[in-house]
Amino acid sequence: MWSGEPNASLVSIVRGLEPGTALDVGCGEGADAIWLAGLGWQVTAIDVSEVALRRARAAAGRIDVELEWLHAGLLEATLPPGGFDLVSAQYPALLRTATHDAERSLLSAVAPHGHLLVVHHADVDVEEARSHGFDPNDYVSPADVATMLDDDWEVVVDDRRPRHVVAGAGAGHTHDVILHAQRVR
Ligand SMILES: C[S@@+](CC[C@H](N)C(=O)[O-])C[C@H]1O[C@@H](n2cnc3c(N)ncnc32)[C@H](O)[C@@H]1O
Repeated sequence: MWSGEPNASLVSIVRGLEPGTALDVGCGEGADAIWLAGLGWQVTAIDVSEVALRRARAAAGRIDVELEWLHAGLLEATLPPGGFDLVSAQYPALLRTATHDAERSLLSAVAPHGHLLVVHHADVDVEEARSHGFDPNDYVSPADVATMLDDDWEVVVDDRRPRHVVAGAGAGHTHDVILHAQRVR
């Protein structure tokens, strides 16, 4: 169970944007997606976990907001190329591949002049994670996405920032790594 609150990095970039279409990749229990929908964004939220989506749908139903939930992994989902004014991926576990499929998929979903936000926990203890059967190096980081940006993109934020989450499963993490880029053409 996560906090139920939208992620701070998302809140801070969305403040300056007009509502449009948004894709939430690895939406989990839906706090970000529901918050965006409440602001008038037309949201598509995808996750590989049916359990997470069931909770997300229930939370959306309680406050009567409409959005599209997709039970799929990022690479398996059928997403319109350039279809989203905002693509947000907050702490998703996207497998690293030699051909950078996840990174390409995130980038290609963003509309011209749209925004991409990729956020992960900073300072993950790799040995500790490996002892739980999870190797962070197997997964795409914001830095991996940043290396794929070409002249069509402008980096707005590429930073490590404090995180102030005191409740829910992610509460132990004190800092995020954040990539916010805008597609300029
Ligand atoms: C750590 S949770 C974060 C959930 C939410 N973004 C948040 O910030 O509260 C990561 C979520 O990504 C989902 N996920 C993992 N791999 C995925 C993939 N390849 N495609 C879509 N979702 C994925 C998991 O099922 C999980 O719900």
